[in-house]
Amino acid sequence: MTIIDGKKVAADIRAELKVTVDKLKADGKSVPGLVAILVGEDPASKVYVGMKQKACDEVGLYSKLDRLSADTTEAELLQLINQYNNDDKINGILVQLPLPKQINEDAIIEAILPSKDVDGFHPINVGNMMIGKETLYPCTPHGVVELLKRYNIETKGQHVVVVGRSNIVGKPVANMLVQKKEGANAIVTIVHSAAKDLASLTKQADILIAAIGVPEFIKADMVKDSVVIIDVGVNRVEDSSKKSGYKLVGDVDFASVSEKSSFITPVPGGVGPMTIAMLLQNTYLAYSKS
Ligand SMILES: NC(=O)c1ccc[n+]([C@@H]2O[C@H](COP(=O)([O-])OP(=O)(O)OC[C@H]3O[C@@H](n4cnc5c(N)ncnc54)[C@H](OP(=O)(O)O)[C@@H]3O)[C@@H](O)[C@H]2O)c1
Repeated sequence: MTIIDGKKVAADIRAELKVTVDKLKADGKSVPGLVAILVGEDPASKVYVGMKQKACDEVGLYSKLDRLSADTTEAELLQLINQYNNDDKINGILVQLPLPKQINEDAIIEAILPSKDVDGFHPINVGNMMIGKETLYPCTPHGVVELLKRYNIETKGQHVVVVGRSNIVGKPVANMLVQKKEGANAIVTIVHSAAKDLASLTKQADILIAAIGVPEFIKADMVKDSVVIIDVGVNRVEDSSKKSGYKLVGDVDFASVSEKSSFITPVPGGVGPMTIAMLLQNTYLAYSKS
């Protein structure tokens, strides 16, 4: 059994990007720029945005953080997005979700220029992904596909079962893997909470992708021998032995499932670090097409 080291792969991607950005600087060119907009004081969002800023700095990207108060109106946020849509120094605009309830998330996502939508959530980018065009792909699903590629895990003709159908993970990862291209070309099944006999479906998986949001939901008796496990879940569970009082676990019961699997991502250190690496890659892609 091989543990897929997402932390290392993400560090490799950042290092590769740093070489590219250093070359831009040496050639006297501008560097890719990313703005993160954080509305309100959600503690988890603050942590994520901080991690993104740190990763940008490490790679040498131009990064900017706009912190807005929790009572920001939708009109004010739309105006700010419009300003960055027209700012040549900014190639990627990231609005950290969730947003306070007075702001319509769809309206905000649709206001970002598709060419600067580094989260890959704009309907134009989602549509391009769906029809198999190169585009700005959503970061977490893209990170999953990249991990499979970098570990040379065959996807062509393999049965991928995705548990979860969210717009940010389940649906896009299924979509990316079903495309008729290198690194995809899989037979894909999406399952969700309406499944009548979930285990009979997950047991068919050559590659199982769990994006459920329920701690350690996938157990050993739900998978077949030699399955490849990609665990997208990040769940906090109480752990009195930790200083913080909690630990992070995935959607897969790692202890039992790892014994049956051929490859498995750990939590933390699997898919999680890939999300930010792919965000940086998207910012470079947006820059290179500008
Ligand atoms: N690593 C990262 O960077 C990253 C990024 C995003 C998310 N995540 C993590 O990934 C997990 C999923 O996130 P998400 O945003 O996709 O969650 P979500 O929007 O809550 O979607 C969860 C999906 O799982 C399905 N589901 C829930 N309980 C189920 C059950 N008992 N049986 C079968 N299906 C079930 C739901 O089915 P229905 O549609 O029928 O309700 C839904 O489609 C979370 O732990 C989240 O923290 C990690």
